[in-house]
Amino acid sequence: MEWKNLQLKMEENGLWILTMSRPQALNALNRETILELEQAIHFLQEKPTMEARALILTGSGEKAFVAGADIKEMISLEAEEARLFAEKGQRVFRQLEMLRLPVIAAVNGFALGGGLELALSCDFIYASDNAKFGLPEVSLGLMPGFGGCVRLSRVVGLNKAREMAMTGEMIAAGEASQISLVQKVLPAAELLPFAIKTAKSLMTRGPRAVASVKRVVLDGYDIDIDGALALESSSFSQLFQFKDSREGMTAFIEKRKAQFNGN
Ligand code: CAA
Repeated sequence: MEWKNLQLKMEENGLWILTMSRPQALNALNRETILELEQAIHFLQEKPTMEARALILTGSGEKAFVAGADIKEMISLEAEEARLFAEKGQRVFRQLEMLRLPVIAAVNGFALGGGLELALSCDFIYASDNAKFGLPEVSLGLMPGFGGCVRLSRVVGLNKAREMAMTGEMIAAGEASQISLVQKVLPAAELLPFAIKTAKSLMTRGPRAVASVKRVVLDGYDIDIDGALALESSSFSQLFQFKDSREGMTAFIEKRKAQFNGN
């Protein structure tokens, strides 16, 4: 499929790279881009399991992952339109977060406002050493609208989230790594190769198993511990219905590599 503001390409069988691409605006998210993102997510969601095993999300160019929502478009919004805009962005980011396949954010520069919110909707974040993270909306007289207040505190804790969102100050990749917002910092040239290597490693695992882990970690995070444990045991037991779990355990016993096929 062809889009104007992003490219989705299959790197190899089952491994997809989605590149946000509006270089004239540091890949800022206008309404059209958010719609295209929704279509790309839907496209991957509809693929058979073995044809969509991992996704890497990155930005075009060397300067930005995504520099936020498009300020030049937002300036003309009335309050009701702004509510619809925020709700749309939140819905699409939630769809990304809920995709059954693992999603790695490869943050190659500025991840500000909606850009940080987009990265926070991925399963984990790798960053280039020139990356910068922040929620600068308060400097525009605004606040985050695509889940930033909600997800950042869950990842880095209340006080750091409050500090970042209330001051609007950016942090560098090194600090982002220290607070566990970023899982690995790499020289820019090594970022995508490293994300691809991790994605390939994820693709050697049982796809249903990876999807179940993703869902249980996410859904179990916000509920009471007994409910979360029940969710885990139920998901654990369901995997025993599928051939891939037999294959994985048999391969271990036979001292060979498992050949998963999504069944
Ligand atoms: N929206 C629209 N255009 C943007 C943009 C954005 N978020 N960010 C950058 N651009 C445009 C600039 O206007 C500029 O275009 P022109 O050449 O036509 O003037 C071009 O991209 C290059 O940007 P700069 O010249 O500003 O580049 P720089 O290196 O000097 O600065 C930057 C880089 C620090 C990222 C700076 O561009 C910046 O501060 N951008 C805005 C960041 C921001 O405030 N993001 C939050 C947006 S609000 C939001 O996201 C709300 C939400 O949660 C839903």
